[in-house]
Amino acid sequence: MTGPLILAIESSCDETGIALVEGGRRIRANVVASQVALHAETGGIVPEVAARAHLRWILPVLDEALAGAGAAVGDVDAVAVTYGPGLAGSLLVGINVAKTLAWVHEKPLIGVNHLEGHVYAAWLMDPGQDELAEPVFPLVALVVSGGHTFLVEMRDHLEYRLLGQTVDDAAGEAFDKVGRLLGLGYPGGPAIQRAAEAAVQHDAAFPRAWLGETLDFSFSGLKTAARRIVEGARVEEGIAGEPETALPDGRIAELAWGFQASVVDVLVTKTIRAARAAGARSIVLGGGVAANGALRDRLLEEAAGLGIPVVIPRPGLCTDNGAMIGAAGARRFEVGERAGLDLDARPSLPLATR
Ligand code: KG4
Ligand code: ZN
Repeated sequence: MTGPLILAIESSCDETGIALVEGGRRIRANVVASQVALHAETGGIVPEVAARAHLRWILPVLDEALAGAGAAVGDVDAVAVTYGPGLAGSLLVGINVAKTLAWVHEKPLIGVNHLEGHVYAAWLMDPGQDELAEPVFPLVALVVSGGHTFLVEMRDHLEYRLLGQTVDDAAGEAFDKVGRLLGLGYPGGPAIQRAAEAAVQHDAAFPRAWLGETLDFSFSGLKTAARRIVEGARVEEGIAGEPETALPDGRIAELAWGFQASVVDVLVTKTIRAARAAGARSIVLGGGVAANGALRDRLLEEAAGLGIPVVIPRPGLCTDNGAMIGAAGARRFEVGERAGLDLDARPSLPLATR
């Protein structure tokens, strides 16, 4: 493959990711150091702890990525780095390493929006993987992560029109909060998926917030409903006054299934509606929640009914990683974008506004 070789750095949240990506698509190396175990102890991310962990791991991750690709920093065409949105202290670790490498090796520096990275993960191919078809424009992309939930239309590369977004919690945040409510630990998303897969009964009814015909989302009502439903289940099981006693596994599985079904129903229905309205020729799914099997299956099934191809990265490329930043960074590099050494963290950087 031809095209620029990008060294890409991601440190916006709780994964330290560094990758080498060629031509915006082919992964040469992709190393992710996850802080999940670290944050599981506190049931969530403590920003100061996250930043220190990035600092501890970023150089070993860099060494491993370069060794994996059989490359040196001198071989790359540019250094791309996430500069927002995310946790300020965590972002700064990646940004400062990127700036240092770019300055020492006289390489162009490219600032990448983390959310754009989640969209561009759909273009990635693993080392040795057969050539994949690219997503076709115009497309509709649903990004569902721990901090963000939105739908955008793209008529070309790097062009985004916001179609809808969450008015309160992100989908991943809802998974994490309800996971905690069910005693499933952190992060809630994968734990809820696993519990739901074990469900025998499929009749737990959770509400859906449709917000009329809009393409916006709301998950805070669902979270409140989940609390009420879990409390009701505890009364039925006769353990209402025993906070230390867990619900029976079967009951947890049923509730996890009901919650997941509600989130998936709303996400897929609105994505399909958006794709039809935009005349989309493909649909892209990205962000950590896109690792969810039920969401992937249902979207693939409904889009197939409409004859619209869906591109969903493998689960490891849906959650935060450096390769997705390399995919987006290559596009920005090719259109001549360059960041200065004054590049700063933008914790609330938007991708598109209405
Ligand atoms: O994109 P990401 O790795 O980090 C952010 O940018 O936020 O997303 C993390 C989120 C978490 O809320 C996590 O619970 C959720 O993605 N997640 C999942 C699954 N795997 C990760 N949610 C549902 N099902 C999964 N299998
Ligand atoms: Zn993310």
